[in-house]
Amino acid sequence: MTTSLRLAAMMLLGTMLLCSPALGEDIHSDEAGKMLYVHYCSSCHGETGAGDGPLAPILDLKPTNLTQLKKQAGGEFSYMSLLRSIDGTRNVRGHGKPDMPVWGELFRSDEKAPMGEQLRGAGKLLLITYHVESLQED
Ligand code: HEC
Repeated sequence: MTTSLRLAAMMLLGTMLLCSPALGEDIHSDEAGKMLYVHYCSSCHGETGAGDGPLAPILDLKPTNLTQLKKQAGGEFSYMSLLRSIDGTRNVRGHGKPDMPVWGELFRSDEKAPMGEQLRGAGKLLLITYHVESLQED
């Protein structure tokens, strides 16, 4: 399996696991995605994604305005592109090294990690991606 396909499959399973009532966590996926986004991203990118989080003024690099991703890509929202920016596959200057705890801890699909951990990480990644998609302005 290619890396992208593997990642996509993991994310699908991970989301099912995270949203599964069988686990006693009957969370609505929008809510969960928003919670994760606020926790991991909004300090820099802002709650609405406009790039105006509380840390933005003290950063050397201005956080990207995440509401414009679709527009910038010519009206087509790219999940894979966003996923690569989050999971560290693509080097984003403002995100530090991919092995920085903030990313590595959760989002990297480390093939050696226990399967449950990989699925959870992948599910969170997907929920955040959906949430960022919902922030897009036309
Ligand atoms: C510590 C601050 C910080 C946090 C936390 C952070 N980012 Fe960023 N992010 C940045 C900065 C700064 C840039 C701009 C980098 C540049 O211009 O090269 C950026 C760029 C991006 C980009 C554009 C990437 C590209 O290739 O141009 C995306 C997408 C993104 N961030 C998504 C996220 C998401 C989703 C989260 C939460 C999981 C997140 N970021 C968390 C600081 C942060």
